[in-house]
Amino acid sequence: MEMLLVANWKANKTLEQAFTWLDYISGINLPEGLTIIIAAPYPLIAPLKGEIMANQLNIKLASQDISKFENGAYTGEVTCEAVLDLVKYCLVGHSERRTNFGETDQDVAQKSSLLIKNNIVPIVCVQDQTTPVPQGVRWVAYEPPSAIGSGEADETSHIGQVVSQINAATQTKVLYGGSVDEGNIKSIADGSGVSGFLVGGASLNPEEFASLVSRL
Ligand code: PGA
Repeated sequence: MEMLLVANWKANKTLEQAFTWLDYISGINLPEGLTIIIAAPYPLIAPLKGEIMANQLNIKLASQDISKFENGAYTGEVTCEAVLDLVKYCLVGHSERRTNFGETDQDVAQKSSLLIKNNIVPIVCVQDQTTPVPQGVRWVAYEPPSAIGSGEADETSHIGQVVSQINAATQTKVLYGGSVDEGNIKSIADGSGVSGFLVGGASLNPEEFASLVSRL
């Protein structure tokens, strides 16, 4: 079964730390069907891509966000065109963006549509089954805000309920995110019907991340 394991580094890591991580993770065995994706800060994406290509690594890249605008006079923005040769995926509507940067469901819809147009796969973050999922989106990450960074992951049975409701309503594949760690990843994978994980804190240290992989 196809599974995604996304390392969401958030606003962390120097280039040197990123290379050290990549070097470590490129040496581990991946279970069949598992795709590892690094959601890296913008300036790290191009050098990581260079390293991945040079060493023919089986690791994909994602952007953590994208502009809702196409190219133009939008100082500070990063557009789809700027990253489309570098990333295959992009997170959209992470709860930290909704809370800290006022991102709305409409912004999420605009971003998703531009990404799809540019052949980048949006992974839309939702807080539960009531968050709208824009048309054409194939991957969703269920991340209850109370579970993010709290050490208190959602109950496997509840994750299972939300996953089946989202599956039924939107025909998307659903990742789970929120305090995933080496102690809970296997039981959530086995008991909830998720198609992978979005991991923040436990993705930063390469040894800890490798330990997540070894449990899948
Ligand atoms: P966490 O973050 O694993 O640190 O809870 C998950 C996320 O925000 O994507």
